Amino acid sequence: MPTVLQLSLLYPKAQTRLEAGYSIVSARLAEIDDAWLAAHAARIDAVVTGGHLGVPSALMTALPKLKVIGINGVGYDKIDLDLARSRGIRVANTPDVLTDDVADLAVGLTLSLLRRLPQAHAHVVAGKWPGGELPLARKLSGKRVGIFGLGRIGRAVARRFSGFTDAIAYSDVTRQDVPYAYHADPVALAAASDVLVVCAASSGSTRRLIGAAVFAALGPEGVVVNVARGAIVDEQALVAALRDGKLGGAALDVFEDEPNVPAELRAMDKVVLTPHIASGTHETRQAMGELMLDNMDAYFAGRPMPTTVA
Ligand code: 8YV
Repeated sequence: MPTVLQLSLLYPKAQTRLEAGYSIVSARLAEIDDAWLAAHAARIDAVVTGGHLGVPSALMTALPKLKVIGINGVGYDKIDLDLARSRGIRVANTPDVLTDDVADLAVGLTLSLLRRLPQAHAHVVAGKWPGGELPLARKLSGKRVGIFGLGRIGRAVARRFSGFTDAIAYSDVTRQDVPYAYHADPVALAAASDVLVVCAASSGSTRRLIGAAVFAALGPEGVVVNVARGAIVDEQALVAALRDGKLGGAALDVFEDEPNVPAELRAMDKVVLTPHIASGTHETRQAMGELMLDNMDAYFAGRPMPTTVA
């Protein structure tokens, strides 16, 4: 049986399948130190991890037998693929199966922010309704929606928002054959948007790209929604733009330093904040776990892995 270092839990059915086929060493990244490595590193053949965790390069380097990394997620920004390739380590992720959930959450966050659903819910739950009505909210239908990153998830987000508006635009490295307006520059996209939805992959070239200039172009009524990665948004600049009234609001599922969210952001009324739940449904976490295991099983059976990134 191959030995797997498991850094994040799988959906119960997938977890059972993992336990049946592999010898498992579980650890949280924070507890892996020199003593842990001395005890376990020499026998680790594979690592199972989450998209939000990845595998730190120092850990990859410290595992001499490591052959394959199975990400239970689509994002591979926390893994140095060049390092993996140079060591002959294969890396697989779980695309497609989570696209619907992430796109659904983008719509849910946008509606929650504009229609102030968390505040409305809190108002009723607190028994405040008899004491007065809530201030009016903002309409979503008819708003201009800009999508930063028109990959699998961005396209699914666009399809959903096309039920709310005809004004959809996008920004990506290249123009695509889609019926949406193209803006090469995210600032130009923001100037043409009321709602900017961040859907791009995180990389060196997207790091903090959604910053002060983008917020200024969106303006005091504009809002940012992020279901991609916290690293793409300049969080400090976002807090400043919200605080100074230069940006209308933000709905965020991802943050720069998860699970830590700046106190100033948490104290604001014009935000909706969720703890990286975009793929967090029973259906999708099960499908992700199964696909991660399909990849892992294929590798150790000498078959082509279904969904690899390296
Ligand atoms: C989860 C994700 O955080 O797919 C990704 O890249 O960030 C999320 O689905 C995670 O990977 C679940 O383990």
